[in-house]
Amino acid sequence: MNSKALKAENIKKVFVGDNEKVEALKGVNFSLEKGEMVAIMGPSGSGKSTLLHILGTIDTPTEGKVYINGKDVFSLSEKQLARLRNKEIGFVFQFHHLLPEFTALENVALAYLLYKNNKKEAFKKAEEILTKLGLKDRLNHKPSQLSGGQQQRVAIARAIINRPSIIIADEPTGNLDSENSKKVMEILKELNEKDNVSIVIATHDIDVAKYCQYIYYMKDGLIFSKNP
Ligand SMILES: Nc1ncnc2c1ncn2[C@@H]1O[C@H](COP(=O)(O)OP(=O)(O)OP(=O)(O)O)[C@@H](O)[C@H]1O
Ligand SMILES: [Mg+2]
Repeated sequence: MNSKALKAENIKKVFVGDNEKVEALKGVNFSLEKGEMVAIMGPSGSGKSTLLHILGTIDTPTEGKVYINGKDVFSLSEKQLARLRNKEIGFVFQFHHLLPEFTALENVALAYLLYKNNKKEAFKKAEEILTKLGLKDRLNHKPSQLSGGQQQRVAIARAIINRPSIIIADEPTGNLDSENSKKVMEILKELNEKDNVSIVIATHDIDVAKYCQYIYYMKDGLIFSKNP
């Protein structure tokens, strides 16, 4: 079946606080074809991160449906969903969310262990991927001992160790200088072109968006266009 990598139908998200309600998403339709690499731009607060979290099933919508590789994800059991998420999706965040107590190697290996309980294989693969991303001499450093660009490459290694078919990246270069941004984008582009990984990236940076085939814009909780 030629299903899309990601599809979201009429996604609404309301955050309910003590004395206010925020309508973060007001009926978003979005799809990512297999092998596509797209950017989502738009002002701060427009709903980009909220949408990416829901697409990646780490948050649930108030209304609407999400399909990953054709599967209606919120109809799955918790266990099935966790498995699908660990297998199919790699997340990269602005502040990378590496575990501070663990080394680069351990941070990456842990992601594999969540998916498959084989320690030896996990460490072997983690080392291979970190080496490929130019971090061979940083395997046993903790995140605080690494530069921002190095930390972000560790986060990418962690995101791809399970060979996901989809990468969801929320401002993956938001924290980096232009040289490191370029490195990160070249790694993502190569995953897209060589391994056919489908990628969606939220960014404020037009130079990042230029690596993508399409740019969507969000405003006030809606997606409103697509530029070829
Ligand atoms: N957990 C939450 N509780 C309440 N409101 C939230 C929550 N998360 C996000 N919001 C609100 O939802 C709206 C959309 O936020 P979101 O983080 O998706 O924006 P964004 O486009 O990613 O912005 P930025 O470019 O600054 O990262 C904002 O008004 C935000 O304050
Ligand atoms: Mg955001």
